[in-house]
Amino acid sequence: MTQQSIKSSIKTLLKERNAVLLAHNYMRDEVQEIADITGDSLALSMEAARTDADVIVFCGVHFMAESASILSPQKTVLLPRLDAGCPMADMVTVEGLVELKAKLPGVPVVTYVNSSAAVKAESDICCTSANALKVVQSLPEQEIIFAPDKNLGSYVARFTDKRFHLWEGYCPTHERLKPEVVRELKAKHPDAPFVCHPECNPAVVALADHACSTTGMYDYCQKSDARKFIIGTEAGILWRLRRDNPDKEFILASPALVCPNMKLTSLEDVLEALETMKPVVKVPEEIRIPAKRALDRMLAIPRD
Ligand code: 13P
Ligand code: SF4
Repeated sequence: MTQQSIKSSIKTLLKERNAVLLAHNYMRDEVQEIADITGDSLALSMEAARTDADVIVFCGVHFMAESASILSPQKTVLLPRLDAGCPMADMVTVEGLVELKAKLPGVPVVTYVNSSAAVKAESDICCTSANALKVVQSLPEQEIIFAPDKNLGSYVARFTDKRFHLWEGYCPTHERLKPEVVRELKAKHPDAPFVCHPECNPAVVALADHACSTTGMYDYCQKSDARKFIIGTEAGILWRLRRDNPDKEFILASPALVCPNMKLTSLEDVLEALETMKPVVKVPEEIRIPAKRALDRMLAIPRD
């Protein structure tokens, strides 16, 4: 089957099943190309909560499909590659979090959406990279537990005087970007703003002209008058940036910025998922209800 015929079979099946295809900004180009919505974690969660489709085909990683199942339990959520996980999400366990909460009674837990449903269920509120500061500011407490991303946590901590208890998790993909590489690129392209994701190491974020979520980066580059940008996040974002800004140049800060999990899902996988209506991600009710509380609390905060 050619790529074109796979794409047209996917489109037909999406209609037949009343399905919506959501894709994260890091997905392969050809998967983003057929998506109904491409966006960051916050935009995709919001869409999963409001769509009237019967089926959500989630092209992303496991925690994202779980969030869709938490927010829309009556819908069938398909994750074409069940093995697409997130190593950062796996760095925090329920047992570990419960243990830390016991040591810090009364301290609320802010959990990055890059976490399992079971960890969300033990959390007070979730956040994404797009709203983390607003989420932290929405809490009356002066102290918070922030899990699992220590890099995002320390970035947010810079803008508030609250005390952060940071979980020791991180994204292995973003962590591969080194400050010396960014310094060299900045010297070579002095007119190019460096835009990066707050999952990068703080030494890298310190060099950024702008740090934000993947959709935040897309918006920043579209609005900016600069002609050239150094991009410090996963390579998948380049496809939409280049497509929609043909007169601008985008330089990926490092060839190491490729998340193997985000690259697993192929068009063939999407087609197979729609044909077989598998694999389904479904969060059990005893976890879904408390996890939904934490996600709903986050979604009640308006996006800019
Ligand atoms: P955002 O698209 O929300 O910025 O998330 C980045 C990420 O690492 C998702 O896995
Ligand atoms: Fe997880 Fe990082 Fe991959 Fe996102 S880019 S899925 S945070 S490993």
